[in-house]
Amino acid sequence: MPSQFTTVGFVGAGRMATALALGLTKAGYQVGSVSSRSAASAQALAQKVPGCQAITHPADVLKRCDVAFLTIPDDAMASMAGALPWRAGQAAVHCSGALSLDVLSAARDRGALVGALHSLQTFATQDASTYRLVGVTFAIEGDGDMGRWLEEAVRRLGGYSVSIAAQDRPLYHAAAVMSCGYVATLLESACALWEAMGFSREEAVKALLPLTRGTLDNVESQGARNAATGPIVRGDMGTVRGHLAALAARAPAVVPLYCQAGLDMVALAQERGSIGTEQARGMRQLLRSYLAQATNDLSGSERPQVAAALDRH
Ligand SMILES: NC(=O)c1ccc[n+]([C@@H]2O[C@H](COP(=O)([O-])OP(=O)(O)OC[C@H]3O[C@@H](n4cnc5c(N)ncnc54)[C@H](OP(=O)(O)O)[C@@H]3O)[C@@H](O)[C@H]2O)c1
Repeated sequence: MPSQFTTVGFVGAGRMATALALGLTKAGYQVGSVSSRSAASAQALAQKVPGCQAITHPADVLKRCDVAFLTIPDDAMASMAGALPWRAGQAAVHCSGALSLDVLSAARDRGALVGALHSLQTFATQDASTYRLVGVTFAIEGDGDMGRWLEEAVRRLGGYSVSIAAQDRPLYHAAAVMSCGYVATLLESACALWEAMGFSREEAVKALLPLTRGTLDNVESQGARNAATGPIVRGDMGTVRGHLAALAARAPAVVPLYCQAGLDMVALAQERGSIGTEQARGMRQLLRSYLAQATNDLSGSERPQVAAALDRH
């Protein structure tokens, strides 16, 4: 680790800052200062991290640290970077998955090195006991010594580092969103079906989560493609037809999601060879007809075809 980067500070005291400040402290780094929009957030973080002081003004965090993490909302990043008194020999690091290093160009213009460290991990609540960094993959990039410092920091956090080319950043972040928020959204919709049957959300989560966990275990051991099971993979058209009719009648808002994911699953089943060309064609037709009806974007000329498809299945 280059010797000039010994003390760490945070501007923004939310979930990412808390996870990282705790992780870095445990890994032996000196996290000395934090400021935030509200004094209460800065104090809450400082209380959790031994040796860390809550500071009122972010500029004063910069006076006290060599590496300043800007752990604030993405939209506030450029203006915050532009407002702070960076100096040569210091580093500015953001934790966004979507932003490039350019958002910190104001810091670079004032002589600071810039970097980014994005964790492929989610911190959804304020409860720090749920935060996990060991085994997590981090996308890192940085100017010169900062890149090496971040690589070493990830290693000491117990994670893995990857480098993502600038043009791949949107794909990288889309994959993260699909593996995280989309999974939760899918489960939220599944829970809504349990609510439609008269159960509570808590009962739904209790019932469905072991199924999801088992699936994730299978993804880990066999890969996502082989872990996909269900009536589409088996070619059970009658079952899928029954699902769609019930969803259209009792949970119409869920139909587009069911159909769209189902269409991807048809392609997967066909690639795996578990259904043939004709079965895949029929399944696609069924799903597309419900999708078109649900999204209500049919032109007049398409309506008769959809009606015919519905009659056939
Ligand atoms: N949470 C995650 O799972 C996760 C995962 C990977 C990456 N990230 C990245 O981490 C960064 C921070 O996200 P987060 O989830 O930690 O957000 P968060 O929990 O909402 O925290 C944001 C913090 O920034 C502070 N803040 C907001 N506007 C500010 C401003 N103008 N000046 C100073 N402080 C300001 C807030 O202040 P107050 O509390 O004082 O109001 C809050 O403490 C983002 O770039 C995000 O993309 C988050």
